[in-house]
Amino acid sequence: MDVEHVENDLAKTLLTEQQIQDRLAEMAREIERDYEGHKLLLVGVLKGAVMVMADLARHLSRHVEMDWMAISSYGSGTTSSGVVRILKDLDTDIMDRHVLVVEDIIDTGLTLSWLISNLRSRNPASVEICTLLRKPDAQRMSVDVRYVGFDIPNEFVVGYGLDYADSYRNLRSVATLAPHVYS
Ligand code: IMP
Repeated sequence: MDVEHVENDLAKTLLTEQQIQDRLAEMAREIERDYEGHKLLLVGVLKGAVMVMADLARHLSRHVEMDWMAISSYGSGTTSSGVVRILKDLDTDIMDRHVLVVEDIIDTGLTLSWLISNLRSRNPASVEICTLLRKPDAQRMSVDVRYVGFDIPNEFVVGYGLDYADSYRNLRSVATLAPHVYS
């Protein structure tokens, strides 16, 4: 890892800042149409969804509330097991509320499946999912994802909230890492 210059660690840009912002604006228009006349609660999953939440919410011209959850999945290294622990729960009672979960990326979807059934058990009026990125494995997931920004190949990506070893979240684009970072 180059501690000074993030750009030196990147191999290939998958999505530019402009592409991300344009797509989020389109998704915001869809969300506005679908939730017309309903109060909407956006639920972000820390920490990766911070950037998506901040920009998506600002592309919406309607009222929204925002709340956050932090969860940790007991996995071995980079694979997720689907066994989840809540580190920070919602401050909001979601009974009878329209909830839209905002995610950065869905890979296997195991963590998200758990989260959705946990939220459904609280009797909301509806729960839908919005994610900026989706990897191929997620297609096998049993939960429907209502809004998808981009379907991306099965590569490890960083930036725009996504981290490697807690770095690179502050990049404005989404990129793959150069091999020297892993060695
Ligand atoms: P899932 O339960 O397999 O869907 O795991 C999703 C979580 O794994 C995401 O919220 C990310 O934290 C992490 N993740 C999956 N793919 C990537 C990636 O390419 N870069 C960074 N984090 C990733």
